[in-house]
Amino acid sequence: MPFTIAIDGPAASGKGTIARALAQEFGFPHLDTGLLYRAVGAIGGDPTTAARGLDPEDLLRPGLRSAEAGQAASRVAAIPEVRAALIDFQRRFSRQEPGAILDGRDIGTVICPGAEVKLYVIAADETRAARRAAELGADPAVMLAELRERDARDAARDTAPLRAAPDAVILDTTAMSIDEAVAAAAALVRKRL
Ligand code: C5P
Repeated sequence: MPFTIAIDGPAASGKGTIARALAQEFGFPHLDTGLLYRAVGAIGGDPTTAARGLDPEDLLRPGLRSAEAGQAASRVAAIPEVRAALIDFQRRFSRQEPGAILDGRDIGTVICPGAEVKLYVIAADETRAARRAAELGADPAVMLAELRERDARDAARDTAPLRAAPDAVILDTTAMSIDEAVAAAAALVRKRL
């Protein structure tokens, strides 16, 4: 039975960093599902057509990490047909042996409701904005507004909104270093392995 680790949370909460570190520590492949929506947003045209025709190569497009690509992603991510078109790919990825790590917004609630480990990573808005600003070389105040707008849209949509699964462990990384956050997540995985 594959061992699935689902990591969800708002933008720049630290989930991607934790997911990459766990992937290295446990040797599981990792899928950053936000990239799927970023690619659909960046392709342009009809988002549902873009999602249905999505190719792994599309995930390598330049500029996908930008704040603009994040906004475009969150707009297309609210379209139910776009989300439906991406479900099979994510579920197939999650069933790899010996295990897999997926991070996003709806992994523990919709994509992998039976995941062996579910983490919901949060951090104070200002902390998240400061981290993202440092990463992108951007203004923290602009990042704060951007993150809040995106989180509000992601949490308010009808299909697969940003939400912790009832059985998710909440990890607040506000006062944690990266090493501390990774250690806490890894300890949880080891307990369930
Ligand atoms: O995680 P990241 O910030 O790259 O995600 C970009 C956007 O993609 C999110 O703001 C959200 O709207 C959407 N997304 C989603 N479901 C996921 C992953 C990302 O709706 N599983």
